[in-house]
Amino acid sequence: MQSIRIEKTTMPKSKPDAAVLGFGKYFTDHMFMMEYTPDKGWHDARIVPYGNLSLSPASTVFHYGAEIFEGLKAYRTPKGEIQLFRPAENFKRMNNSAERIRLPQLDEAFALSALVRFVDMERDWVPDAEGTSLYLRPFLFGNDESLGVHSIRNAVYVVIASPVGSYYPEGINPVKIMIETADVRAVRGGTGYAKCGGNYAASNRAGEIAEKKGFSQVLWLDGVERKYVEEVGAMNVMFKIAGVVVTPALTGSILPGVTRSSCIRLLQDMGIPVEERLLSVDELMDAAESGKLEEAWGCGTAAVVSPIGQLSYAGVDHIVNGGRIGETTQKLYDTLTGIQWGRLPDPYGWTMKV
Ligand code: PLP
Ligand code: COI
Repeated sequence: MQSIRIEKTTMPKSKPDAAVLGFGKYFTDHMFMMEYTPDKGWHDARIVPYGNLSLSPASTVFHYGAEIFEGLKAYRTPKGEIQLFRPAENFKRMNNSAERIRLPQLDEAFALSALVRFVDMERDWVPDAEGTSLYLRPFLFGNDESLGVHSIRNAVYVVIASPVGSYYPEGINPVKIMIETADVRAVRGGTGYAKCGGNYAASNRAGEIAEKKGFSQVLWLDGVERKYVEEVGAMNVMFKIAGVVVTPALTGSILPGVTRSSCIRLLQDMGIPVEERLLSVDELMDAAESGKLEEAWGCGTAAVVSPIGQLSYAGVDHIVNGGRIGETTQKLYDTLTGIQWGRLPDPYGWTMKV
């Protein structure tokens, strides 16, 4: 395994107050970096002061969008320890994303040990206020100095870290979601299952229109028939319909969320039936109209478990559970965050101490 060079900052920053954190606005003192070239493989692994990157304006990443990323968090437990939540899953997914975009594969064991080393160096940056954590953003991009559209040879991998509070300003209060009928985010055979920057660029227009109308985000329909519910811009979705939790199946155009898989396991262990299947927007709207839609929520690393209080489709607004957080959503939130923040025991072996 390669060694990691350490260069400590000589100008440590002051840490922001928990009340102003929001999401992804402040960055820690250092970042992890390494480069890939065909002859050397991954090399020059280092933790250096956080700062701007110097790249050629011809770099592949600026022209053809060869970029993938991950998102995970470091949590401070009541005892003051620092822990990660299922970090190996993020590197597994990152390599799946890299395979799709044709970026070089990471050595998952090395990437994880480097992340642990990095978080250990930044441990004072893990906040301790309720609901706060240190968000970790590994990303990898193609860096050939060439405008030809060809396979990628050189790449850069970076990890930055940001102390965060709630992703949505609403916090745990229900968000308003608009079901998108014009744009699509991903198609089968496309890059929906990969966590690549381009998917988010494709989401911008619909997201902006929805935001102007007072919604937090859009819920995407499948890109082929525009019939089946897929996911929200930054989270997977779950609906409790007549006592059963239904979540869209992983058809290739949806991100296989780590939080999604954790929620499925927790719900099953609570004795709540879960179905991973195609869910048409018509079935969802019928359930909303007939009162069978009991609860709706999104789940993701940044979003945690976010109740959905309103779903709007084709100009019709449906209020879910009176616009309040539902019982199952609350129980799932409490259990998941209890394990993540170390307030509850972790019978699953999901957490990893730093
Ligand atoms: N779907 C999208 C589009 C996302 O950006 C995210 C966030 O990472 C998720 C789902 C949830 O994935 P995870 O639970 O792994 O964070
Ligand atoms: C995450 O939850 O980690 C995400 O990547 C969502 C996001 C785009 C902020």
